[in-house]
Parts: sequence; structure tokens; C-alpha cells
Amino acid sequence: MRFPRRVLLGVTGGIAAYKAAFLVRELVQAGADVRVVMTRSARDFVTPLTLATLSKNPVLTELVDRISGEPRWNDHVALAEWADIMLVAPATANTLAKMAQGLCDELLLACYLSARCPVFVAPAMDLEMYRDAATQFNIARLKEHGVNIIGPASGELASGLFGEGRMSEPGEILQHLVDAVVDQGPLAGKRVLVTAGPTHEPIDPVRFIGNRSSGRMGFAIAEEAAGRGALVHLVTGPVELGLDRPGVTRTDVGTAAEMAEVCKQLFPAMDLVIMSAAVADLRPSSSAAKKIKKEGAPEVLQLERTEDILAWMGSNKTQDQVLVGFALETEQALDHAREKMARKALDLIVVNTLEDHGAGFGHDTNKVVLLRSDNTMTDLPLMPKTDVARRLLDTLEEFI
Ligand code: CTP
Repeated sequence: MRFPRRVLLGVTGGIAAYKAAFLVRELVQAGADVRVVMTRSARDFVTPLTLATLSKNPVLTELVDRISGEPRWNDHVALAEWADIMLVAPATANTLAKMAQGLCDELLLACYLSARCPVFVAPAMDLEMYRDAATQFNIARLKEHGVNIIGPASGELASGLFGEGRMSEPGEILQHLVDAVVDQGPLAGKRVLVTAGPTHEPIDPVRFIGNRSSGRMGFAIAEEAAGRGALVHLVTGPVELGLDRPGVTRTDVGTAAEMAEVCKQLFPAMDLVIMSAAVADLRPSSSAAKKIKKEGAPEVLQLERTEDILAWMGSNKTQDQVLVGFALETEQALDHAREKMARKALDLIVVNTLEDHGAGFGHDTNKVVLLRSDNTMTDLPLMPKTDVARRLLDTLEEFI
């Protein structure tokens, strides 16, 4: 079972908290990136060290961390923003009541109130507590607020009683999340190849021909596609960027030839390819094995064309594959882009004119025109690259 999502797991203080360790392990094995927030009383039942080790992330409890010297704000808004889903498991009667009322005396509750992602809770308590009118009222209220309730299951309870109140098993909880989230993203199950960054074409072991592409546009597209449920393969040239999003497999390459090799191998399995990399068009005809000394160094560099990866894809694609290219044009931008789109058999081309300050290489913002093969276009204003990625994928969803 695959669950490539960012999960913010809230653990509260009930005996079922011991199952949180198994739950974290199941989530991580399914490909999720898990961060755990525990209530203070949860720490009586399971140690933060156990959950930190299994999740490979620090476990937080306090709104303000006073342990490590200077008081530090544990940013609940950033945690909630980070998450694709929030899951509270186990959820005690006390925490359910506080969530239903909007109380906020725990970091976990502050995260809940800040969360805009889907929220799931797996209640766990004794039979009579679960049946109590107040608990039932709180659960009904949470449902009204859009919270998804998982279980509880029936069976033997920690008190020795039999009945409803047992937390659902970790495997069942995971299955519930997969059914509810993974299969519903607009790009669920789609395979998407995104390229990013420049390529470096070596002159000798220390020098190369490259360009100023930062990779930010491609990384934003990869993140956005993964957030919509796609299984993304990101092939990137040398960049300074990190990416810890589940659902994205990253391959780093150096040269255009290396990028071509990886992309051509991945291509047949892909539903959508977005070539945002600034692949070098030319490379030195030969690269010296040892650093070239200035004494006797050639004054003219002999260059040759690199393989056009996108053109290769265009002539090898099936009818169902969607192909997107980028163009950087400084004059007669749309005419040149149209010609490029036809020549490489693209479905859409993202035209970048560099006319506006703040657009293109090295900036966080970009100004582009989305030109489709049916000759319709969307002229976008200057906006953050993350928003360009969103608008691009909104358009591409219509193709898929
Ligand atoms: N591209 C590629 N392989 C190359 C060069 C470019 O796949 N060897 C891809 C880029 O990722 C981008 C598009 O092709 O999506 C850019 O097309 P290209 O014809 O290289 O545009 P320019 O570099 O702007 O070329 P020109 O100088 O012809 O305008």
C-alpha cells in the first residue's frame, strides 16, 4: 500500500497510545513523511523518543519550547501548513471534547485549529465513556465540522470490558486514509516526469558550460503535482534546492547526456512530462581528463549539439502521453513558441519572455504564457513560481 503524503500525527493520552508506534511505522513504510505532536499526558503512555526514532523527525508537545535554552515557538501554523493530512490517533474523550469546543491549551489543538487539510480522528476510550451523551455529542459536532471519524472498533478494552471504544488497528487506519485521500486527488495514480535546473557540460574536471537556472520552477511543479496525488519523478541538474515531499522520487544528474539517459528510460511509463529544465543546447566536443593549464590552453572552444530530449519524446510519444515544454524567447515569442511546439509535438508550451523584472532565472516569481496546441492561450501576470505551478497543473488536468 502506497501513501506518499505528509502526515501530522497527533497522539493523545490513552492506553492505545502504545499503538501509535505501530501506526507511525506503518505510515513511514507506506512512504509517508510523518511528524508527531503529542499531548502532555500522551507522554505517560509512550515516549517521544520512540515516536521520534520511528518517524525520523523530532516530536513536539509544547507550544513554547523552554528546554533547549532560549524559549522557542513551536510554530503550529507552519506544522499545519506542512501537512497533507492531520490524524489524531488515539483521540481521547478529553481531546475530542476540546476539538469540538475549539479549546487550545495544547500544541496539538493549536495545530488542529490551524489545519486546512483533511483531519481524521481515531477515538479510543472505554465503552461507557464512548457511549456517554457528551462524547457522542462531541463526535457528532466534529463530523459537522468536516472531521473524519475512523472507528472505534469493538472488542476487549483495557478495562476488561467488551464493546465499542477500541482504537482501530494501525493497518485499518492506514487503509482508511488511502481510500479517503490517495484515490481522490485529481492526479491520483498518474505518473509525472518533471525536469528541473540547468545542466553542466564539462570543459575539464573543474570547468563547465552552464546557465543560471535555479531549478525553482521545476521543483514547484514537482511539489504541486505530488500534492495532487501524482507519483512524480523529478530529474534535476545541479541545483541548491532540497525537496522532502513524499510522492516525489528525485534523480540528480550533471550533463544533458545524463539527463537524456534517465528521461528516456523513464519516459514510456509516464502519463505526463513537464520539461522545465534548461538543458544545454551545446557542449564542448571533448572534455579534458585533467585540468587545462592556461599555458597552451586553446583559445577557441569546439562545441557540438546535445541531444534534444524533448524532441525525442515528441517523436516517441503515444497518443495518451501529454508533453509540456518550456521556451525562453526574447523576440516574436509566441510565433517561435508555436513553431517549437509543432516541431517537438507538444501539447502545451510555457512561454517565458523575460520581459518583466522578476521573471525567469534566479527569481521566485515568473511571468509566463501557457500556449496550448489548439492555439488557445492563458497569459498569466507576474506571480510566485508556486502559483505558476498551480495554474499550469490546473490547465494540464484538463488534458489528462
Ligand atoms: N530541451 C531538451 N533537450 C535539449 C534542449 C532543450 O529537452 N537538449 C527542452 C527544454 O527542457 C525545454 C525546451 O526543450 O522544455 C526548450 O526548447 P529549446 O528549443 O532548447 O529552446 P531554446 O533553448 O530557447 O532554443 P532556441 O535557441 O532554439 O530558441
